[in-house]
Amino acid sequence: MASVETMTALSPAAVNSASLPLLDPRAPVGIFDSGLGGLSVLRAVRAQLPDEALVYVADSLYAPYGERDDDFIADRTLAIGEWLVAQGAKALVVACNTATAQSIALVREKLPIQLIGVEPGVKPAAQQSKTRVAGVLATRVTLRSARFQDLLERYASDCRFLCQPGLGLVEAVERCDIGSAELRALLQSYLQPMLDAGADTLVLGCTHYPFLDAAIRDIVGDRLALIDTSIAIARQLERVLDQQGLRSPARDASPQPRFCSTSDGAHLKQLAATLLDIDAPVERVHIPSRRTLTPDSHAA
Ligand code: DGL
Repeated sequence: MASVETMTALSPAAVNSASLPLLDPRAPVGIFDSGLGGLSVLRAVRAQLPDEALVYVADSLYAPYGERDDDFIADRTLAIGEWLVAQGAKALVVACNTATAQSIALVREKLPIQLIGVEPGVKPAAQQSKTRVAGVLATRVTLRSARFQDLLERYASDCRFLCQPGLGLVEAVERCDIGSAELRALLQSYLQPMLDAGADTLVLGCTHYPFLDAAIRDIVGDRLALIDTSIAIARQLERVLDQQGLRSPARDASPQPRFCSTSDGAHLKQLAATLLDIDAPVERVHIPSRRTLTPDSHAA
């Protein structure tokens, strides 16, 4: 994998291909995130694999995941994975660092399709930082997860990582705020200490954050190289589909994604139109799960 690529590719090897059901290469790929951030992954997947049909689920009713407990995140990830399997998905991209960190191992055991997860690009940051100081912006759940701590242990021996929870950033993107004065002030408060400490690299450890790249650039200029996960994830998906003989045959035109949201979907529609230039309807879907069956679960 080229050094500019972002994530450590998460091996799909835990799935025994002999146990996979007979899948149709024309079936869709499921992509899921707690909310709108996974659209940054969907954008890269469409660019890399234009013939693939895609079903995107935004669990916006329960976003952000970054402040939820581990069991809640695993519960939602499994329920949405099962729902996507029922919709005929041939593979699942967990386009959420937080859900990957907390639940991919468990969910992988339970679903009969290949899962591709994401994790912050600590490895490429360690490879390319010249000052040997790199910032990591990610959710609090991702930063405290055992999976992320393992990553740091592997790559932080000669590179200092400044880990900053991006409190408030997911919420901003969820309301389609990618450049307000308040958001810029928040970003400044997270990024200035990294600049002051001599960082030259910034890991965008949450799939929502690539949508903040212009606001980040306005603050840091060229002083930080931004490490984004999306292109590497798309390439990993391509490898997995090839290994399984599940690449879609060529189509006359790139199919329009099917967009689904557990909330009203208005912001999903807006962000897809303004940032991805995709004007598609959004279906409101109800995906029950053990932890969301109680009436007050919105505040869980
Ligand atoms: N896009 C998700 C991630 O990559 C955001 C998690 C959240 O909802 O807090 O971690």
